[in-house]
Amino acid sequence: MKIIAYGIRNDEKPYLDEWVANHPDVEVKSEPKLLDENTVDEAKDFDGVVAYQQKTYTATVLDKLGSFGIKSLSLRNVGVDNIDAEAAKRNGIKVSNVPAYSPAAIAELAVTEMMRLLRRTKKFEDKERHGNLTWAPDIAEEMNQQTVGVFATGRIGRQVIDIVRGFGAKVIAYDPYPNPKLKKEGVYVDTPEELYKNSDILTLHAPALKENEHMINDETIGQMKDGIRIINCARGSLIDTDALIRGLDSGKIKGAALDVYEDEVGIFNVDFGSFDKIPDARLKNLMERDNVLITPHIAFYTKVAVKNMVQYALDANVSLIKTGTSDKEVKL
Ligand code: COI
Repeated sequence: MKIIAYGIRNDEKPYLDEWVANHPDVEVKSEPKLLDENTVDEAKDFDGVVAYQQKTYTATVLDKLGSFGIKSLSLRNVGVDNIDAEAAKRNGIKVSNVPAYSPAAIAELAVTEMMRLLRRTKKFEDKERHGNLTWAPDIAEEMNQQTVGVFATGRIGRQVIDIVRGFGAKVIAYDPYPNPKLKKEGVYVDTPEELYKNSDILTLHAPALKENEHMINDETIGQMKDGIRIINCARGSLIDTDALIRGLDSGKIKGAALDVYEDEVGIFNVDFGSFDKIPDARLKNLMERDNVLITPHIAFYTKVAVKNMVQYALDANVSLIKTGTSDKEVKL
């Protein structure tokens, strides 16, 4: 069995090598380049493809894979929003993802950012760089006093709930598909509006869907509690960035932490050499604010998560090749 793994980074290589050592019957070619029109021909003569990228898996690429007889594409991440689903279906390509490589990795960053906003660490670090070791005016707020609103209670949202409860925060949540255990505990509110109105901190954990694109917009921000803080470690498309900026400017939003950004592709995980060279004025506007924390989509970037992403994706690809199905197959 021969698998080609695209976009393999140096930090993934040891986990890939470890998997290969434990699967002597599978040959894995590791390709550092992403899967696109220029590299797809390398997949000829392979049985399956493993990939991770934020760039689109286009119809041209999927048609080519189909023409090579490849029927399995295993992503090393969760999101499948960048796959041309129609093209995958018409080529009979089954797609798997890694739905839970480490919910804790994402949840821990979300809570870290809540704490950083409450304790104003960005402001203190900035003052320190200028030799200013004073306290005022940056007095903090405490997590145990906050109502944390969790939008979507899948694995990650539930992990966030567990962690913030440890701090003594009050938790409320909204999910169109409530979790039975949380429902019994009375955590849910009935509508997103109720969540917005009653949260001191709103943390988003929904996948990117057509229906929730820009769910955080001028209207929904208007429904929020004055002085809300917003955390997004989920998908950039959930937030209308211009509306967020207006909310920050007016003071309606007291702070925001974004690990994802709607225009992040081609910007995050790139070294531009200096702040001035970052080619996105809105992002720089946000980065310059002391009440906004930007991280370049690093929530997943832990040793445990990266290992699981590589090894679970390879397991899923073998399963798709051998049996035509996998417990990680995604219905597109
Ligand atoms: C995903 O798993 O879909 C992510 O967002 C993480 C990705 C940047 C590797």
